[in-house]
Amino acid sequence: MLSAACARQGVISEASLRRQERLLLSTAFSPPFDYPLQPHPNVRSGALRHARNLDRFLASPLHQPSVEAFDATLEWIAREDPNGDRSIILDSGCGTGRSTRLAALAEPAALVLGVDRSEQRLERGSSAETPRNARLVRAELGSFWRLLLAAEDGRLA
Ligand SMILES: C[S@@+](CC[C@H](N)C(=O)[O-])C[C@H]1O[C@@H](n2cnc3c(N)ncnc32)[C@H](O)[C@@H]1O
Repeated sequence: MLSAACARQGVISEASLRRQERLLLSTAFSPPFDYPLQPHPNVRSGALRHARNLDRFLASPLHQPSVEAFDATLEWIAREDPNGDRSIILDSGCGTGRSTRLAALAEPAALVLGVDRSEQRLERGSSAETPRNARLVRAELGSFWRLLLAAEDGRLA
């Protein structure tokens, strides 16, 4: 069982895990039945527009609070994974962090980063217990992704 595996690793209490596991099984894999199966028609044109402006974007200043959040995240990773052998999962635009928590429960051996710029959304999810292998970070993803690319060492991909 997922909960037993997580509890063995001391990630989170067994009772809390069982609650979250029930939630995971009841809702996580049931998308709305009218969920679109095709990409949104604007995805391609939007991606091409961003690609054309990529050089300008990469030369623009980084968002300073996100740089600080990134540095704190690297410190957390170094503490949780001193040997550098755990996988890292990035939940970009994690909102309230629900998907981050579920990913952390599903992958107890990995470290899961949930990143969102909205203080309000992160705050809305803050009463839920966060597994030890998950971290919620308030940051602007444009800067966060650039910092990840710059720090890329084969793990932070
Ligand atoms: C549609 S919501 C998805 C929330 C969550 N993943 C879920 O499934 O419930 C998109 C999220 O992306 C965040 N977001 C959008 N652009 C962002 C950016 N540039 N940097 C950080 N977060 C961003 C928004 O704040 C919002 O919470």
